[in-house]
Amino acid sequence: MSGAREAMAAPLVGRLVVVGLGLIGGSFAKGLREAKACREVVGFDLNPRSRELAVELGVVDRCAESLEEACRGAEVVQMAVPILAMERLLEQLAGLDLGDAILTDVGSAKGSVVRRAAAAFGRMPDRFVPGHPIAGSEQSGVTAADGSLFRRHKVILTPLAETDPDALELVHRLWATLDAHVEHMDVVRHDEVLAATSHLPHLLAFGLVDSLARRHENLEIFRYAAGGFRDFTRIAGSDPVMWHDIFLANREAVLHTLDDFRADLDELRAAIDQQDGRKLLGVFTRAQAAREHFSKILARRAYVDVMHSKDLIFIAQPGGHLKGRLRVPGDKSISHRSIMLGSLAEGTTEVEGFLEGEDALATIQAFRDMGVVIEGPQQGNVTVHGVGLHGLKAPAGPLYMGNSGTSMRLLSGLLAAQSFDTELSGDASLSKRPMNRVAKPLREMGAVIETGADGRPPLRIKGGQRLSGMHYDMPMASAQVKSCLLLAGLYAQGETSVTEPAPTRDHTERMLRGFGYPVKVDGSTVTVEPGHKLTGTRIEVPADISSAAFFMVAASIAEASDIVLEHVGINPTRTGVIDILKLMGADISLENQREVGGEPVADIRVRSAQLKGIDIPEALVPLAIDEFPVLFVAAACAHGRTTLRGAEELRVKESDRIQVMADGLTTLGIKAEPTPDGIVIEGGRLGAGEVWAHGDHRIAMSFSVAALRSAGVIRIHDCANVATSFPNFLALAQRAGMQVRMEEPS
Ligand code: S3P
Repeated sequence: MSGAREAMAAPLVGRLVVVGLGLIGGSFAKGLREAKACREVVGFDLNPRSRELAVELGVVDRCAESLEEACRGAEVVQMAVPILAMERLLEQLAGLDLGDAILTDVGSAKGSVVRRAAAAFGRMPDRFVPGHPIAGSEQSGVTAADGSLFRRHKVILTPLAETDPDALELVHRLWATLDAHVEHMDVVRHDEVLAATSHLPHLLAFGLVDSLARRHENLEIFRYAAGGFRDFTRIAGSDPVMWHDIFLANREAVLHTLDDFRADLDELRAAIDQQDGRKLLGVFTRAQAAREHFSKILARRAYVDVMHSKDLIFIAQPGGHLKGRLRVPGDKSISHRSIMLGSLAEGTTEVEGFLEGEDALATIQAFRDMGVVIEGPQQGNVTVHGVGLHGLKAPAGPLYMGNSGTSMRLLSGLLAAQSFDTELSGDASLSKRPMNRVAKPLREMGAVIETGADGRPPLRIKGGQRLSGMHYDMPMASAQVKSCLLLAGLYAQGETSVTEPAPTRDHTERMLRGFGYPVKVDGSTVTVEPGHKLTGTRIEVPADISSAAFFMVAASIAEASDIVLEHVGINPTRTGVIDILKLMGADISLENQREVGGEPVADIRVRSAQLKGIDIPEALVPLAIDEFPVLFVAAACAHGRTTLRGAEELRVKESDRIQVMADGLTTLGIKAEPTPDGIVIEGGRLGAGEVWAHGDHRIAMSFSVAALRSAGVIRIHDCANVATSFPNFLALAQRAGMQVRMEEPS
């Protein structure tokens, strides 16, 4: 039940008293009054005009003439006075009989308020809940009071060990009634966070403007200042008295961040002095990435969160056919590896065609966190300034891999051999995926790795271990496991070799060679030895055959289609989808075959064809492992039965792809029987319906393709993760002739 509706059922509070009727206090009072969350809202302010206005503007029910009168019979007293006035107010309140009243405040530094409360009352009152709404406005005073000021803003409550849980809960609910996002935080942490993210920037803005103004007394210099100056110094227009109060109140935490920042500034100074361009580029690219991440968080408040945390729905209209030439984004597997090997190389690596999807970006971020300077990506171009095999630095915190299994599994091998400890974590889907398949063999090599429950993430990897090479017979056909061990093998003593039960993608092997690192391949066994180095190179990432696969199936099943998919990687360890579709009767031809940077590519022409059901040869399974969701859609449109076996790996991908596809196809009226290691699908007529992608990008895109042959609209839930591998999927699909769009979040 939402806070507001709850309030209407029965007021949360009898009498609320708000002391200090400025913007924040006034908005708190007005919002709760409008929500009818209190039986009575009483205001008090030292300024008689503010008291009059508060009543006139409906901010409060009435105002009291004195603090004592205001607080009589109060259930909650909100202290919304300037932070330096808090001491006096607390002393006055300590002298009153407050009964069981709950005290709370809105001060932007919490340590000082808590200390002053303890001093005034002789100890910290257990019914005092310190709070801080992170909201404001350029305007001030009671006339600017706005009942919706705190909507979707954060409010931080900083309870202490002695804080009464009932009091905390009530204050929490009051803020929640105003639609604020309430969080609880420790006092010290709150003050540090605010010092860093709010107080320090204000100090810099005030300081810079004053410094320039004083040196150029007639202010002439500002005539030349442009947008950058205006943006950077906007906050120097804030209320000087309020900020004077805040700096005095949050002295320790501000000094602490200021000292850290001064040290960093000195380093920047030295870099300029010594013409250390790499250092400057490192700081600027990291800052740019951090700032971009931050803007996304800001945008998230309004929009993206709605997509990620609620539900992003694709609406796929029935019918359509595909025409034209398309280039799908860069290969995900190759993009990940270009950053990993580029970072470990000596010298610079230039990458073109890089996939700017969330998974590959997670890999970039991880290496930036370990001190690698990476420029871009910008229109697919990335420059990696390699640090050499032994140049990575300890990251400041856990490395976050998002949805990306490839990042986590490959990095675990590399990190097991570093001198520092690391922790790898991921989103809800990745946190459910099995990691023992890498942890176990790495431990056999001497690595020290802890996993979460049942071998799931997070992974805690201990640095400083000496790894020994070994031979590993892989129990499953996994390129991620193979690559993980090969990366560990670059650092291990002696040879490391991996034998695979069936061929899996060999991008790691090819790329290692591209960087000048020797790799021995003997049948199904790959071997590396330590003692060589990687040398920076140029990498052209071909378009991802796994993304192209959606359009191959789309053009095959939609009548009158004829498309060319340009510059697609056709590494033989990845072309199972073409072989399977051809066995089903698809009309696919490869044109303009060539080799680019060690990987074969081609333009792929696909025309519509009547498909037929087949028994999928097991040997093709690992070569088409990511393409099965969309191949199941092809099977649903084919004449007859399609049977898949030997594909139990599909159950541990971003979702259980056998079950999730079977559920969706069944909803759409297709007979789809899951088996432990595969599925049996009878071709038929696809109906309309509502299906769930379970946060799995490839499921979302597969059902979008299904609509080309469905009798009605397919509504696909939980599609936000399409951005992990194919950020412009909707735009390209529409351009090609599919009628799929995002449902506007309500
Ligand atoms: C990948 C290997 C495959 C594949 C994944 C990418 C890689 O996983 O499904 O999307 O880049 O090495 P497995 O190794 O688990 O088969």
